[in-house]
Amino acid sequence: MLGLKLLTDPRWANIAESNLEEILTDHAWCEQKAASNAITLITQNPEHEDLVHELTAIAIEEMQHFQMVIDIIKARGYTLGRERKDDYVGQLMKFAKKDGSRNQSFIDRLLFAAMIEARSCERFRVLSKNIKDEELASFYYDLMVSEANHYTTFLNFARQYTVDVDVEIRWQEWLDFEGQLIQSYGKKEYIHG
Ligand SMILES: [Fe+2]
Ligand SMILES: [Fe+2]
Repeated sequence: MLGLKLLTDPRWANIAESNLEEILTDHAWCEQKAASNAITLITQNPEHEDLVHELTAIAIEEMQHFQMVIDIIKARGYTLGRERKDDYVGQLMKFAKKDGSRNQSFIDRLLFAAMIEARSCERFRVLSKNIKDEELASFYYDLMVSEANHYTTFLNFARQYTVDVDVEIRWQEWLDFEGQLIQSYGKKEYIHG
């Protein structure tokens, strides 16, 4: 699925469902961080007009996702907790190239975003197929579709704007790295836990 090297064990969905307040809190902040990441890409690359327009739409959509999650939290009588540290995303950020040319850093930042969208999409799919809560199962199905579109957008921008990076080779390196990394996860009630 989306080129991912390792799929999530469906039992992770049971862990997630055993603590909905926690997974919803973590999920809300994932959406906020996705919006922030899109805004950062806009502010750093204003010369790319179509990227600015598409990522503005994505930033708005991610904040709409944030709003949907906090609405669910409220409707169920839960409390939105503070942002959870996301070790998985921290490890991906370390893998992103920062010491090459400006274009190399830019392309890697787009691939970093595509990678997170791909895994988030896969995790939403696992939730939609395995949790017993019907409202949340259908909610996660809808989000899975949306994040799959974001994944495609980021990967296509990397292909469009590359100057000195072979995007297909670099994307395979990302998939290989992530496939190793994710082996240590799948045990906690976080979206990337
Ligand atoms: Fe989202
Ligand atoms: Fe997204």
